[in-house]
Parts: sequence; C-alpha cells; structure tokens
Amino acid sequence: MLRVGGRQPPSPRAAAEAGAACVLQFGEFSSLESSALIELAPSILSADFARLADEVTLAVEGGATLLHVDVMDGHFVPNITIGPPVVASLRKATELPLDVHLMIENPDLYIPAFADAGADWISVHQEATRHLNRSLDLVREHGCKVGVVINPATPVQTLGEVLDMVDFVLVMSVNPGFGGQKFIPGSVEKIRKLVTMRNAKGVNFRIEVDGGIALDTVGEVVRAGAEILVAGNAVFGRGNPKENAEKLLKAAHEATLQKV
Ligand code: DX5
Ligand code: ZN
Repeated sequence: MLRVGGRQPPSPRAAAEAGAACVLQFGEFSSLESSALIELAPSILSADFARLADEVTLAVEGGATLLHVDVMDGHFVPNITIGPPVVASLRKATELPLDVHLMIENPDLYIPAFADAGADWISVHQEATRHLNRSLDLVREHGCKVGVVINPATPVQTLGEVLDMVDFVLVMSVNPGFGGQKFIPGSVEKIRKLVTMRNAKGVNFRIEVDGGIALDTVGEVVRAGAEILVAGNAVFGRGNPKENAEKLLKAAHEATLQKV
C-alpha cells in the first residue's frame, strides 16, 4: 500500500484537484515557491512494475503530485500496456490523482471503464477519435478532468474549437508508444503557440508535456509555458526516483525564474 508520508502534502489528490497553487501551502515545497504552477507527473511506463508501489512512493517523496498512466492498445500506437484493472489497483494504492493518457483507438468505448476504475484525469488523442467534441464531453460526464493530446505532427491549431472544453492540453514531445525516446525540439514552439491561443481566447486550460523530459529539456519547456511535466525515464530509468524527481523539479523551478 502506498502511503502519502510526512514529506508530502496531506492530500495531494485534493491539492491537485483544487489547483496547483495549493502546493504553496505545504512547507515541503516552500523552496519551490515560484514553481507553484509546475507539477511533476511521473510516468509509470518506465517503472519496475514488480515494485510499482515502492517506486511511486519514492517519486511522491521527491515531489510528484500526479501519476501519469500510459494506456496503449497496440493499434493507435505500436505497443500494449495496461487497462482498467491496473488503474483500479493503483487507485487503491495511492492518493495521487491518476492522469490517464489514452493512446487507444475508439476511446469512447473505454472512457467509462477507466473513469470507473478511478482515473481522475483522462486525456484523449485528437488523432484517435472521429468526434473529438463528443469524446471530451464523455470524459466530463464521467467526472474526470478533461484533456486533449496532440502528436508531434499535429498542429496546435487543430484544437482551436475545443480549447474551451478542456482542463488541460497534452503536447506530445515524442511520438507516442515508448518511453525513453529523444525529445522533439519543435514541441517547444507548439507550447508557446498554445500559450498565445489561451490568452487570445481567454480560456483557462493547463499545458502538459510528455516525452523526453529530462534535466536537459525541462528548462526550455517550462520557459515556453509547460506547467505539468510528464517524465518516465528521467524519474524511473536509473538511480533513485526520489532524487530524480527532486532534481527535475528543481531544474523546472530554476527555469521559471528565467521566464520572460
Ligand atoms: C509515450 C508516453 C510517455 C512516456 C514518457 O508514449 O506517453 O508518457 O512514458 O516517457 P519518457 O519520459 O521516458 O520519454
Ligand atoms: Zn504519456
């Protein structure tokens, strides 16, 4: 059983649900004050599944406030991972909000099952559904935070008509399917464009980035406007997940100070 120990906010799930600003209330994060809008969402894809609870506990101790769960179907992406039963097990094991990234075709068929299993956030690929508006509504109807995801080759402009429907936009900075891939630099400009679109439309979604986020890339995505950082390999790939998470958040914090 995962425990949210003394080094963590009393209820990270509630904190994240209420908005990242809540992070400021907790002494643990006092050194990260100006990165109050930054959250780290470790992707369990790179964790040792036989020791999943322990690995997640360490990442939480390092400052993770969300848990990113990569769902792959072998059709939309060339890899297969996990389904609702694993989400249900994670739900029992941690209080962290579960950020479920659906890399599957026909997402509408499975959104209810992931919501019932305990997903808190669900994101759907723009490329994976014919009726994006309907899919996003379905996520909302099931009581989850609504996210839309775009692949590296998908222009941000394709989201123009749904930006007022979502709580977050997830920018893929690798082609989805595998952990440990090289960051695609063009993603930085896409984050900047999303910030511009958000301002122009007066809407309020958050920007998440996923793929190749590590010490050498986190600064540029944060300076561009990314607020939720997904990291698999950089947290669980080697070394201690707690230290890895701390280092990533520290680098993100430093980048916020350089934001212009
Ligand atoms: C890729 C997944 C990512 C992946 C990130 O398809 O969506 O969440 O796990 O892994 P890293 O951080 O190793 O690039
Ligand atoms: Zn992901």
